[in-house]
Amino acid sequence: MKIAIAGTGYVGLVTGICLAEIGHEVVCVDKNQKKIELLKLGIPPFYENGLEGLLKKNHNILFTSDFKTAYKEAEIIFIAVETPENVDGSANLTYVYEVSNEITENLQSDCSIVLKSTVPVGTSDEVERFMKKNVSNNINIEVLSNPEFLSQGTAIRDTMEASRIIIGANSQEAANLLKQIYAPFNRPFVITSRTSAEMIKYASNDFLALKISFINDIANLCELVGADIGEVTHGMSFDDRIGTKFLNAGIGYGGSCFPKDTKSLHWLSKDRGYELRTVRAAIEVNELQKTRLIQKAKKQFSSFNGIKVTVLGLTFKPGTDDLREAPSINNIDILLGEGAIVEVYDPVGMDNVKKIYSNKVTYAKTPEIALQDSEVCFIFTEWDQIKQIEPSQFKKLMKSPNVYDGRNCYRRSDMIDSGINYNSIGRP
Ligand code: UDX
Ligand code: UDX
Repeated sequence: MKIAIAGTGYVGLVTGICLAEIGHEVVCVDKNQKKIELLKLGIPPFYENGLEGLLKKNHNILFTSDFKTAYKEAEIIFIAVETPENVDGSANLTYVYEVSNEITENLQSDCSIVLKSTVPVGTSDEVERFMKKNVSNNINIEVLSNPEFLSQGTAIRDTMEASRIIIGANSQEAANLLKQIYAPFNRPFVITSRTSAEMIKYASNDFLALKISFINDIANLCELVGADIGEVTHGMSFDDRIGTKFLNAGIGYGGSCFPKDTKSLHWLSKDRGYELRTVRAAIEVNELQKTRLIQKAKKQFSSFNGIKVTVLGLTFKPGTDDLREAPSINNIDILLGEGAIVEVYDPVGMDNVKKIYSNKVTYAKTPEIALQDSEVCFIFTEWDQIKQIEPSQFKKLMKSPNVYDGRNCYRRSDMIDSGINYNSIGRP
């Protein structure tokens, strides 16, 4: 089966390499020629665990910017371009339509089009209408919805060992084609209508976002009543209706999915005259949570002007170099706005941080260098390299050991016993 994938971002590239790994012939297409040049050399354009190894060893995958040839010969095309949010929170489908147009202009035989990008409910129907109108008369196309559930940092495992493969199709025949492609993964299939498939994606991500905002809300209350969020979630988790996952309190969710997927579904619900109030609450709690730690620190430092501040951990979560919607950015902007002297450390995200802050902050090679002579330390990502810092190091290296930990990386008693003024989330 000749497969083409439009977009070599986190989703497109990981999907492509995993399909190649199970023996399909895959062509990955991207308009960004720099990315394509890197990929041809076997170099991933972003950090993702295990990706480089697979790229170097796999011979079933090709990379090109020549979309005309790639689409002309494809039997099945996955669309995995970005769907960023518009200012009003709705999803921007410009790139999806750009690619749909390129496909219809070049297709020379029947083809199945698979929408992998997260798109508003109803988009598969609209894209199919658009493509059928523009494609040559004698060519049959059918659009399928096949949302991704890969989490950055574990994206390859999440694809190869997917909890489920959702296939939204208007015909059994089209669904069977995708089932056949994915069969070697040996994962459960869920076949639905296209609109249900699109909704499954949003409902899943928004439910997880809601879970995080709920626990952050409870954590904030724990601080006021003297309870410990760690003990509370541990106690809750024995009920397997609640479970253990996505109950880590912190400074809120970031990344390329939850922030935009909550806003997009909320926008859609309002547009249809039924506002999703739970999703609105998840968004509002998250917005406040992102700067909650700095608001706490402001009780101690009326201004950060001229103060050396260390920031440990910048990516939106560990295991990725991605800074999209990372809470660290909101906080660094506030610190710089107040005239703080900011030194940052992240084990893999530094190159991307440099693109944002250039010479406005100092970049440390190790957490120890970043902590030297600092008066306040903020922790925004729970990287192992950060969790492994001995509490005594903060005391030894910092000018005054004020630590604001946004991911509850340390045992509170260890930090306090080491003489640190330690503040975290949801703990007395
Ligand atoms: C994905 C999904 O597609 C998005 O809907 C989901 O909600 C989050 O994850 P992601 O893989 O993270 O997006 O996107 P990104 O890393 O921005 O990559 C998209 C790629 O598509 C880029 O390399 C871009 O150059 C390429 N592209 C975009 C094209 O090749 N052609 C276009 O017309 C537009
Ligand atoms: C998410 C989905 O999990 C995945 O299925 C897919 O649809 C894409 O979007 P991703 O954004 O890569 O994956 O990361 P995820 O692990 O879900 O974390 C998202 C954010 O939530 C991170 O900022 C993380 O720090 C935060 N988070 C997660 C918490 O604050 N607490 C938790 O308990 C879990």
